[in-house]
Order: sequence, then C-alpha cells, then structure tokens
Amino acid sequence: MHAHTQLALTGRNLDKQFLSVCAPIYQTAIFQAGDGDNPYDYSRSGNPTRTALEQQLARLDGGCGALAFNSGMAAISTVLGSFAAGSHVICSHDCYGGTARLLTLLAQQNKVDVSFIDTRDEAAVEAAIRPTTRAIWLETPSNPLLRISDIRSLALLAHSFNIKLVVDNTFLSPLLQRPLNLGADIVLYSTTKYINGHSDVIGGALVCRDERDLEELSLLTNAHGTGAAPFDSWLVIRGLKTLPIRMRQHEENARALAEFLDGHPAVQRVNYPGLATHPEHQLACEQQSGFGAVLSIELRSEAAARRLLRSVRIFSVAVSIGGVESLIEHPATMSHASMTTEQQESAGLGDNLIRLSVGIENINDLIADLEQGLEQRDGRLTELLDGVSAWEL
Ligand SMILES: Cc1ncc(COP(=O)(O)O)c(C=O)c1O
Repeated sequence: MHAHTQLALTGRNLDKQFLSVCAPIYQTAIFQAGDGDNPYDYSRSGNPTRTALEQQLARLDGGCGALAFNSGMAAISTVLGSFAAGSHVICSHDCYGGTARLLTLLAQQNKVDVSFIDTRDEAAVEAAIRPTTRAIWLETPSNPLLRISDIRSLALLAHSFNIKLVVDNTFLSPLLQRPLNLGADIVLYSTTKYINGHSDVIGGALVCRDERDLEELSLLTNAHGTGAAPFDSWLVIRGLKTLPIRMRQHEENARALAEFLDGHPAVQRVNYPGLATHPEHQLACEQQSGFGAVLSIELRSEAAARRLLRSVRIFSVAVSIGGVESLIEHPATMSHASMTTEQQESAGLGDNLIRLSVGIENINDLIADLEQGLEQRDGRLTELLDGVSAWEL
C-alpha cells in the first residue's frame, strides 16, 4: 500500500468492537487485567491510541518500532538519558536551540561531553571522535541555516567507530527524507511540527532501526513517564492523515517564496536547499525527496530584520515551524536565544537573520506580505527608523 494511503487510514483497525473508522481515544489511566492477556495495564507504560500512532510512525520511516513522546525535547532527553555518564556526543553546531541548551546543561553537570561541529565537514567530525563518543547527532537541514549534512557518509563513519547516528528529521518529515534508509540508527521528531501540522499539540517521536535500541528507549520512556498522552496521540494521528497534501502545498509555497526573496534587493542571502545556488543543493537532491518549507534570509542589518518583523500582517511573529499558518521569527533572540553568544557566532547565526516557516496560505498573499515588509524606504527615513527600538514603533 502506498504511504499516502496508509496515512489516510491511520488507526482504522483499532476498534474491533464497533469498527470505528477513526481511532478511538482511550482516555483511561488504567486497564483491567482481564484473562491476563491484556497488553495494557497503565497508560504511562502504554495506551492503544499511542500505539496506533507509534505503529504508523515506524512504518513511515521503515523502522522496527517507534515511541511517541509528550514533546520533542522528551524524545531527545530519552536518547541522551540512555548514554552512560561521561559519554561524548558530537552535535551539528546549528541545531535547534533547545537541543544545544540541553546538551550544554548536561555537559555543565558532567553528565555528557559535547562537541558542536559543522557536520557538513566529515573530516572535522572524524577528528572530534573520542573513545567515549556514543553518538553523532545530526540535524539536516540544519536550523536555522538550512545546511545539509551527508547522512549516508556520516552513518558509515559513525558505524566504523561503533557509534550511533541520530538524525533529527523534524524539518522534512518522513515524507521528504528517510534517514534510516540512508544508514541512521535513530530518527527523531518534534511531532509538534509537520507531523501534527496544526500548531495545536506538543509532541515528539523516536523511530529505531534496531530492536535493542527500541527496547532500551521504551524502558526509559516508561521509567521517565514521558510517553504521549492519549488525546495528544489522537491529535497527531489526525494530523498525519493529511501530511502528504500539506507537505506538497508547504513546499510549493516555500519554493515560490525562496525565488521571490532571492531576487529582492533588500535580501542579501536566501538559505533554502531548493535553490540551485544553495551550496549543498546537489546533496539535498540526492538524499531528500523534497526541500521542505523552512527558509532563512539575511538582511542588511538587525534593524532591517526587526522592521520586517514589525511590518508583516499575514505571517505571525512566532517561534516554531511546520503548522499550516506561516510564521516569521528572529532566531538570535527567539528560537535560538538559549544558545550562548559564542555558540551562535560559531554556528554563523547573525542578528540580521530571519527564519520563515512557510504555511499553506495563498502564495500571492504571502509574497505581497513580505514585499510590503521589505519595501525599500527612502534612505533617510530608513536611517531614522533603524535608530528607534523595535518596541517604540
Ligand atoms: C528541529 C527541532 N527538534 C526538536 C525540537 C523540540 O521539540 P518540542 O518543541 O516539541 O519539544 C524542535 C522544536 O522547535 C525543533 O525545531
């Protein structure tokens, strides 16, 4: 069955009694023991609505199993919690700010060691490997600079040192990139983003290639109590059913916006892997089946970036990505504010950078919104406006 058909039918066979087409929400903490063959006893350990979501996520990514969490950060914490004290992790240097914050915190507490590396540079990754390295932690495309790392060759490198490759695939979803097929061991998602897609639930997921990883992470999920709640699982299932058509529209809009912005005089640079000028465009064509709908732009100054944020009417100024509505934000002070200044600088994340999560609205409205926001004002007026703080205007 084609993946899109499977998605439309997610959870259909769960209700054996009344054959409901939609998955029931098993809103219960406990289950009766019955004849002793009930696989469920307590919803922290497992719940049928969560299982329906997990089975679909495992199928989509081609994993041996999946775990659904109450947030993307819970999924990340669970993987990091499976490493022995003193383990070393190599992480993409422009990763999600919350991932950088957690790794930095754990390093300060001497629980793990971390090296933030430009994972596009395989020689630099190899040079950072230590005897204690447990994982290479990849975000590709990276956040917010949309850099592409080579999953297949990093998987080979990791495995030659007996290290796991973990890929945060939140930006593309399993429809546009399948890291397990390229050699990754664990794929992780903030399902808050495209997988749910409606900005109305916080969730996370892990998909494993290896049964032993799945078993260990499943034990930890139960021990930490971080599994997804039944209602949240149901919301994510509902989102999953329309993932293919949402992704198609997201991407069509993102490509059109990237092309519009690429030719705009107020924009110094557009970071979008779908543009032929993107340094890793070829690699993106090879390992992805689409370019996604997040892009970032560099403007002339921080003031110009702030002006754009103040001017938009359709884009909402908000963190996050992957919902049907378009969002715009300033990574240095919003999504990536939890990174230290040094981490931001070494990742190349400047004050003039703006990140866009392109939604499914009418493309002409989105272009018109950015066009009026980027409108070139008379030079003197621009200077005056740039001298005024964001909140005074
Ligand atoms: C790439 C990426 N990974 C992980 C997370 C964390 O997920 P959550 O916010 O669902 O905890 C985020 C959140 O923005 C993200 O963008």
